[in-house]
Amino acid sequence: MVHWFSPWLLCGYNAGFRANGGSGENKGNFVAQMNKVWGLFAAAGLGLCLSVVAMADRQQDIADRIKPAGKSCLVGEECAAAPVAVASSDGPRSGEQVYTTKCFSCHATGAAGAPKLGDAAAWAPRIAQGAETLYTHAIGGLNGMPAKGLCMDCSDDEIKAAVDHMVAGSQ
Ligand code: HEC
Repeated sequence: MVHWFSPWLLCGYNAGFRANGGSGENKGNFVAQMNKVWGLFAAAGLGLCLSVVAMADRQQDIADRIKPAGKSCLVGEECAAAPVAVASSDGPRSGEQVYTTKCFSCHATGAAGAPKLGDAAAWAPRIAQGAETLYTHAIGGLNGMPAKGLCMDCSDDEIKAAVDHMVAGSQ
């Protein structure tokens, strides 16, 4: 929603700016000159914001096209390798989706000392703390583990599902 809204806001602002700049043409040379300058800025801004809107449009297009295709997606097809596109805003994401899109970067590689998914030895003492502690640390952060694994639009339940997914795969 936000990425839809903001470019339009920018455009509205810009258009207003432009209209203002145009209205003062007979206020003398300097003012007219300034108005031209602002007009140029506004025009450049308008161009920019139009392209931003066009981009947002395209992204939405792509998301729309991928959505139905994702339902009948076969392993090995391009759409199967694009979990990011599946993470749309409708309905909670599964633990696996959150993991692959948000936690994977650290927990698949061990970056920053993150326990790797599938590394039973690394996970055993963590799992022994109990699920609630793991949830608390995943949501609130712990040392190199950022709060919510940097997934700021994840709900607590989505984070818990991702923890469950990692725990299940690391025993
Ligand atoms: C920027 C890298 C990074 C990302 C992204 C990240 N983690 Fe972590 N995570 C870490 C590190 C580092 C640790 C080890 C922290 C420690 O024990 O000092 C950790 C530890 C954990 C633990 C174990 C906590 C404990 O009590 O032992 C859980 C659970 C966890 N992460 C869940 C997640 C989930 C769920 C996500 C995605 C939503 C995620 N992480 C994304 C770096 C990351």
